[in-house]
Amino acid sequence: MQPSPQSFVLGPVEQPSVERKPRKGDRIVITIDRLDAKGQGVGSVDWPVFGKFPVAVRHAPPGSTLLVEVVRRRSNNVEARRVEWLDKGPKFKEPMCQHYGTCGGCAFQNLQYEHQLVELRRLVTDILNNTQVLGDVEVEPVIGMANPIGYRNKMDFTFGNRRWVNDGEDQSEGQGFALGMHVPFRHDKVLDVKECFIAFPEAQNVVNSAREIAVEMGLEPWNLREHAGLLRYLVLRKGYHSGEVLAYLITSEEAADRIGPFAAALVEAHPEITTLVQGINPLPAGVAIGHEERILHGPGTIHESMGGVKFELSPRSFFQTNTQQAERLVEVVREEVGSDGHKVVYDLYCGTGLLGLAVTPEDGELIGFEREASSVVDARANAARLGMDHATFVEGDVLERLAAGIEGRAKPDVVIVDPPRVGLHPKVLPGIAALAAPKLVYVSCSVKNAARDIVELKARGYRLERVRPLDLFPHTPHVEVVLTLSLDPSHGAPADPESAVSQ
Ligand SMILES: C[S@@+](CC[C@H](N)C(=O)[O-])C[C@H]1O[C@@H](n2cnc3c(N)ncnc32)[C@H](O)[C@@H]1O
Repeated sequence: MQPSPQSFVLGPVEQPSVERKPRKGDRIVITIDRLDAKGQGVGSVDWPVFGKFPVAVRHAPPGSTLLVEVVRRRSNNVEARRVEWLDKGPKFKEPMCQHYGTCGGCAFQNLQYEHQLVELRRLVTDILNNTQVLGDVEVEPVIGMANPIGYRNKMDFTFGNRRWVNDGEDQSEGQGFALGMHVPFRHDKVLDVKECFIAFPEAQNVVNSAREIAVEMGLEPWNLREHAGLLRYLVLRKGYHSGEVLAYLITSEEAADRIGPFAAALVEAHPEITTLVQGINPLPAGVAIGHEERILHGPGTIHESMGGVKFELSPRSFFQTNTQQAERLVEVVREEVGSDGHKVVYDLYCGTGLLGLAVTPEDGELIGFEREASSVVDARANAARLGMDHATFVEGDVLERLAAGIEGRAKPDVVIVDPPRVGLHPKVLPGIAALAAPKLVYVSCSVKNAARDIVELKARGYRLERVRPLDLFPHTPHVEVVLTLSLDPSHGAPADPESAVSQ
């Protein structure tokens, strides 16, 4: 007889005692009712004496019922692993990828897409409610993709000398050559990725060829423990509209005699690679960025267009990874900025200028701030290509450059902020508030960090008007959010921007 949901079953603990909390090895039957911010399924169990507590299970979609085993108890929840499906539930979908469950890339490929969007909306709502940011504003439905596969225009693949070996495979096969993704929680092991449904379609064949050619030529992959070896990363990037493909190969040294033939063979096998750049990074830290670069094939850049703007991308330029959804993002930001009277736009954390260039009218003025020098170069070239004479891009940390960058310039009608995941530095917040822009459009890939910043902006006179989430990363718990704020004119006069920023 199958155990009924939320009852205890016999496991390593013969009779779960009512006198103690659950512990490692206990087996529980659980019905999943939601996803958490990590994309894990969560259900709650009513444990005698201790009452209800949440149980989180990886790769368990809402609506499913499972027999699980406790692997860890934390102060506020229990983490468990699936032992057996009891009922996959009505929202379950067979995952498409052979690596699902091992690769850390997709958290919930086994949840039907329309339910992923519902869950993401609920996650955004919960986070904004918990931080008291939302008030009576309703989070709008998540803007999803019509066909949520092959959407990533950029993927980083890692070379490693320790291949992840699946259960049931010959363990001695674990040495040698791997090219793919790090396995979650096992940073010394690399999963040999044979297929990936979220990368742009050509990426998979290029990766499989790169592995074959490197093995044939006897090139050593990076040893993740000893920090030695030649091949470190292969980053593939595609211009969705131009069709151009950039391969960025990171190696520990130049080794032209070995890398030259490797690059030539890869390009010969894949004429779709329009440019190949070698990046040299001898340092132990695992970052897919070269300290020096050599163009081994083609012009060293690719083109992409978005929101009517044509972009030239070098290997290190930041660019939104989901072109189709980034186009929707541009549309949403454009709608939020509005068309009337917004002549002076400040774009903080502007990257290659995507948002600012797309929303600033021809006769308007744009000031962008960006730390990464190569993105600033690209942003200036993009503005020049568009004939945007009144665009200025200030290179450097927003924290240090905001005050100087705006000196003598017109005050903004609208400020766009699109910071990295960590959100805004606390010292930047007074500076942004002091710009006193009537409208502020905050674009974020971390609702939690955006919520923290919005609490501060609200305290400085801003009011949340609208929350519009977009799914830029289908099958993952990451969600992009556009939060529109307006300055409440009844709030006290803001501090002088220049002094506020330099405080
Ligand atoms: C999320 S991206 C947004 C880029 C751009 N809005 C777009 O959509 O393409 C964040 C950008 O902020 C830049 N950045 C990160 N920290 C910064 C800082 N302290 N000052 C200036 N720019 C920074 C990064 O280099 C990156 O280009």
